[in-house]
Amino acid sequence: MKKIKYQINELRKKISKYNYFYHTLDNPIVSDTEYDYLLNQLYNLESKYKEFITPDSPTQKIGANLLDRFKKVTHFFPMLSLENTFDLHGYLKFENRIKKFFITNAIIEFCCELKIDGIAVSLIYEEGILIRAATRGDGYFGENITSNVKTIKSIPTKLKGSNIPKRLEIRGEIFMLKSDFSNLNFQSFQGKKKYFSNPRNAAAGSLRQIDSKITAKRKLQFVCHGFHFFEKTKIFKTHYDVLIQCKNWGIPINAEISIFSNYSEILKFYKKFEKKRLLFDFDIDGIVIKVNSLYFQKKLGSNNKSPKWAIAFKYFTKEEITKLNDIKFEVGRTGIITPVAYFNPVYISGVMIKKASLYNKNEIDRLNLHFNDYITIQRSGDVIPKIINVINNKRLQNAKKIIFPVCCPICNSELLKNRKDKIIRCPSGLRCNAQKKKIFCHFFSKNALNATGLGPEIINELIQKKIVSNLVDFFYLTQDHFKNIENIREKKSIKIIKTIYESKKTTMHRFIYALGILSVGEVIAEKLSNYFNTVNNLINASTKELESIDGIGKVVANNIFTYFNILENRQLVEKLTQILNIKKYNQVSYYLNSISNKNVVITGIFQKYSRNQLKEVLIKLGARVSSKVSKKTELLIFGEKFGNKFFEANKLNIKMIDEKEFNFLINNIN
Ligand code: IVH
Repeated sequence: MKKIKYQINELRKKISKYNYFYHTLDNPIVSDTEYDYLLNQLYNLESKYKEFITPDSPTQKIGANLLDRFKKVTHFFPMLSLENTFDLHGYLKFENRIKKFFITNAIIEFCCELKIDGIAVSLIYEEGILIRAATRGDGYFGENITSNVKTIKSIPTKLKGSNIPKRLEIRGEIFMLKSDFSNLNFQSFQGKKKYFSNPRNAAAGSLRQIDSKITAKRKLQFVCHGFHFFEKTKIFKTHYDVLIQCKNWGIPINAEISIFSNYSEILKFYKKFEKKRLLFDFDIDGIVIKVNSLYFQKKLGSNNKSPKWAIAFKYFTKEEITKLNDIKFEVGRTGIITPVAYFNPVYISGVMIKKASLYNKNEIDRLNLHFNDYITIQRSGDVIPKIINVINNKRLQNAKKIIFPVCCPICNSELLKNRKDKIIRCPSGLRCNAQKKKIFCHFFSKNALNATGLGPEIINELIQKKIVSNLVDFFYLTQDHFKNIENIREKKSIKIIKTIYESKKTTMHRFIYALGILSVGEVIAEKLSNYFNTVNNLINASTKELESIDGIGKVVANNIFTYFNILENRQLVEKLTQILNIKKYNQVSYYLNSISNKNVVITGIFQKYSRNQLKEVLIKLGARVSSKVSKKTELLIFGEKFGNKFFEANKLNIKMIDEKEFNFLINNIN
């Protein structure tokens, strides 16, 4: 029980912090998906353990604290939030709940709308005149933003037409067009002012200006998606009817509103806008499905967070459309040419992205890329940006096709293609400055010789000033060599020389890896180091011998053999082995050390082993397996659906690895 309480408290702390950044500072620090995930976790725990619910839990509140700058107003009706789902299953649960409530299998109509990603506002009209506008705030008290809202052109300050109620509340969304957001950010960028991370934050920031003249310049938009009448009205039967009436009063409503009564039509509507939304000039983050009958809405009512008659069916925000500006052809360490696309910055899951790798020539051909094309950017696995497709109907008539170069953009050597044209390489190796820089950087990098302090900028300067032309030169650097290098004073030069000196003491597998032989990464370097006793034996190995090593195939063996049979490389390696102090160190013992004699705990479900099998494997490797996490635990191995042990270990800062990492360790021991 203590654990549950702890878990609930940790979730509350996190959610409250995220609420503050989102609602109060307009500067979200986690994606909506992550936020919703945590909130759902908290809901689930609290509904299981009701005794832990407290009035200040984020599940009991609607928004976050208010900013003090604006006067507070009390909402006539609480401004609630919406229940969320990301899949059809969640929607069907919602629909079933409603049908159960009415004990009916009869057809229920739903009104489907787009979910605009903006700022919720409440507008109060008296005798058709706008008298008050307020933000949602914490749902009960909002901020009075009337004078700012009055500057928004699409919000009528006076309603037109007939049947205007004495008092009316309109609820809706204030938002900024993506194009206006780009322009605003461009101006802010030029004026060296703070710029906004997305249109929603820009809209929020614009609404909260003390000076309404600034708000007026920001071109904000409005759509109505809700209302409240203060007196009983029998004229309107459905939500849709009222929206149409609002339109007739001059209040903008969404262009895409449809009435459906079965889930397959609703799913079609959801899917239709999943792709289409990327072409809109405004952000939507889902659709909203509402029971259409006002009578049914009233019967269903609300809980303290959201109405029971509506649900948001949300999209994962992973894609954006933007304009391609340029393609640069970058030369890698092994001479491979990689096209990189540069485009107008886009924000995906709160991160600004302005370039994406196109991997190879095939990718450019697949996309049929032209300069100034509009392209869809996705963050695959929510991390690596990728161009998904080109919006063909937005291509300029005279757009120029992007052609892969025939010569190296750095050293002008003719490029070589492999058979399938897939990989295109500059064959010049150290004679090409781009490759030279990367080869040198790799040699001294963390997992290679680990000369920290000798970064890419310094290496580049040393190459440009022709102070170093090969790897050996680094080991003969003196303070004099740094005299003409900008930003490197005496103290720093001594540090660099020291770091290079210290890197001389290394191990055989690090040295092999540092050479940067094509397809020889850390794992192959270890295998070579384990097999050959000396670097000299490796240099003289035949392809047959290399192929006999477990895990080394024909291609890799051939690459290693070719490397050592180029005279320049052989001479370089021979010289380096004289300068360096290379120790043979068996990496297997390193892996074994991380398990053997360690106190290990496991949690979750594993794909490759049952829990007992995993325990047996660990015991055979010399681990002590215990069932509880404590201060003595040294390693936690977690599978899917891990339990509380994961959080406990996390709190105690215990090293944690998942099944994949564990398998990697095991493979290197066997
Ligand atoms: S109905 C009780 N309809 O989404 C709230 N909301 O995440 C009923 N939103 O606070 C709201 N588009 O600001 C509704 N077509 C739409 C919407 C919409 C955007 C916002 C609204 C709400 C938030 C919930």
